[in-house]
Amino acid sequence: MRRILVLLAVVWMCDAVKFGQLCSDNVCNTQRTSDSWGEGHYGASRGGRLHKGVDIECSDGSDVLAPFDVTIKGSLIVYNDPNKKAIDEGINLSGEGLCFKLFYVKPIKTSGTVDKGEKIGTMLPMQSVYQGITSHIHVQMCNRSEDPTEYFSDLCQTRVPSEETELIPGRFWWFDLPHYYA
Ligand SMILES: *[C@@H]1O[C@H](CO)[C@@H](O)[C@H](O)[C@H]1NC(C)=O
Ligand SMILES: *[C@@H]1O[C@H](CO)[C@@H](O)[C@H](O)[C@H]1NC(C)=O
Repeated sequence: MRRILVLLAVVWMCDAVKFGQLCSDNVCNTQRTSDSWGEGHYGASRGGRLHKGVDIECSDGSDVLAPFDVTIKGSLIVYNDPNKKAIDEGINLSGEGLCFKLFYVKPIKTSGTVDKGEKIGTMLPMQSVYQGITSHIHVQMCNRSEDPTEYFSDLCQTRVPSEETELIPGRFWWFDLPHYYA
């Protein structure tokens, strides 16, 4: 019975698309909560407008990593504002059936593919424009009305088995059962 439950749990967990690590200095994909500039969740207030993305913490100058195998569709301009030129760049991407954008990232290339975990760009110097903010990558779906929150989890809290190792038949029973029933 336990085995069946574990199998169902594994099938269920693999069903949902989740972003892997996005920033080299943020192994948990920790989301920006609140600072003097505002809050990082989808729908947060931005002076009469709504924040149409999720902010993932990332220190200035960090490597930005492909969260899964991605196709680069091009670079983008975030603000088109000379006062924000230092961070006015981002990347259009697709992967895992999702179309999304990363803001405040300088791409290392503007076409082709990048494997999961490989570098796709560099976090731009956000502190130079928004001093004291929690520096972050803004993740926005191509359909801005779509909330990307469900694609993120705290990678240090939820233990999603990786396809490469734990899902190999025979290694299946190495799972830490109490972990799932706690
Ligand atoms: C990339 O995103 C920008 C900003 O949303 C958009 O204007 C541009 O058309 C997109 N380019 C590609 C190639 O998808
Ligand atoms: C965009 O996303 C919203 C919210 O999920 C959905 O209602 C709408 O149909 C989507 N628009 C397109 C063009 O897919």
